[in-house]
Amino acid sequence: MEKIERSGEHLLFLVNQLLDYAKMETGRLEVDPEICDVREVLEPVVEQMRVLTEQKDLQLEMRIPPCLMLADVTRTRQILINLMGNAIKFTDSGKVAVVVTETEDKVHIDVSDTGAGIEPGELEKIFEAFHQADLTLSRSAAGTGLGLSVAKELARLEGGTIRVRSEVGVGSTFTLSLPRETPPVLEKAA
Ligand SMILES: Nc1ncnc2c1ncn2[C@@H]1O[C@H](COP(=O)(O)OP(=O)(O)O)[C@@H](O)[C@H]1O
Ligand SMILES: [Mg+2]
Repeated sequence: MEKIERSGEHLLFLVNQLLDYAKMETGRLEVDPEICDVREVLEPVVEQMRVLTEQKDLQLEMRIPPCLMLADVTRTRQILINLMGNAIKFTDSGKVAVVVTETEDKVHIDVSDTGAGIEPGELEKIFEAFHQADLTLSRSAAGTGLGLSVAKELARLEGGTIRVRSEVGVGSTFTLSLPRETPPVLEKAA
């Protein structure tokens, strides 16, 4: 029963990803940002992914300071599910970490792993729709190659970015940067 349920969930995930991709291609992907607490948005996703890291005997680390951002809660969680899903999928030992830092006007969400890593020549291409770097690895890991292209567009619509640093054999870090919410500035008298 559990297996059936899980493959059903996976199929639903793939269908939704395909629908998002179709929306993206026709300019109909939309986000609805609001002021939200970074930890409240991210923590439930990290906890939801914990069962997957436990299955692979990976450590899961989370460091999120109290801070606010301007983001679409559901879409930001969707991006994190994709980044963490990849991190876990392409890592066989070691750890996956979600670490948040702040700069003046941005909140930076680092999703890092100690996995296979990505060749320098692949780093830009992996954000293209349907592109998968290592076909043997990716195919065995069962994906569509759509996750990062949709994630990157969602981040852009939210006024943010996704960047990647990676070293083959060492691991990868994907950084989702979103607008940081700062206290409102008082109207200046003319
Ligand atoms: N954390 C990671 N470590 C290694 N390779 C990665 C990682 N994240 C993404 N990739 C590479 O980028 C490709 C595209 O990722 P994605 O768009 O999520 O598609 P999918 O997960 O369906 O393969 C993956 O197939 C893989 O080659
Ligand atoms: Mg993916």
